[in-house]
Amino acid sequence: MSINVAIDGPAGAGKSTIAKSAAGELGFIYVDTGALYRSVAYYCIGRGADTKDREAIAALLPEITPELRFIEGAQHVFVNGEDVSDKIRTPEISMGASNVSAIPAVREFLFDLQKKIAAENNVIMDGRDIGTVVLPNAQLKIFLTASAEERASRRFKELSEKGEKVTFEEVLEDVNKRDYNDMHRDIAPLRQAEDAVLLDTTSLDLEQSKEKVIAMIKELL
Ligand code: DC
Repeated sequence: MSINVAIDGPAGAGKSTIAKSAAGELGFIYVDTGALYRSVAYYCIGRGADTKDREAIAALLPEITPELRFIEGAQHVFVNGEDVSDKIRTPEISMGASNVSAIPAVREFLFDLQKKIAAENNVIMDGRDIGTVVLPNAQLKIFLTASAEERASRRFKELSEKGEKVTFEEVLEDVNKRDYNDMHRDIAPLRQAEDAVLLDTTSLDLEQSKEKVIAMIKELL
């Protein structure tokens, strides 16, 4: 049986960085499910659709074939054969992904793909509803969080390094807005599963956070 580790938490808590390096060290596959929601947003925005328009988005889903490929251990997201991994990392797509992720048809559309990867591989899967909905039987569930200010400051640094022209205030507003969206939607809202371990990384650096996650997984093995 494959080993499934679910890591959920709000945007910017460090889930992807931590999960990716822990997975690399343990020989697990790291699955970033947010990239799937981002790829749907990317396609729909490219077609000129409003990501809040439930009917318009649902109507576009049959045109989308999202795919995750693992190239030298790194996840790449493909949409209809095009590698969109880098293009989906903009603030516009972040907000679009948050919008489309509130649409039940979108969640349903991406559900099987996530289940299948977890059934076939030892995975560390990160998202918002992995422990609560996608992998309720995961052997380990971690809810990773940090204060909104700390998460915004990490994301601000990341975007600035990439040359994106944003202010800290804009990033903080974005983080707060996405938190609100993700926690208040009707379907699969972001929340800590009852059996998840809470890990607050506000005063931990990446290395310390990663060590804690690896220690928890090693206990399982
Ligand atoms: O993790 P991320 O920032 O790349 O996710 C982008 C958006 O997708 C986020 O605002 C919420 C949504 N999402 C979700 O609803 N469920 C998941 N399992 C992963 C992401």
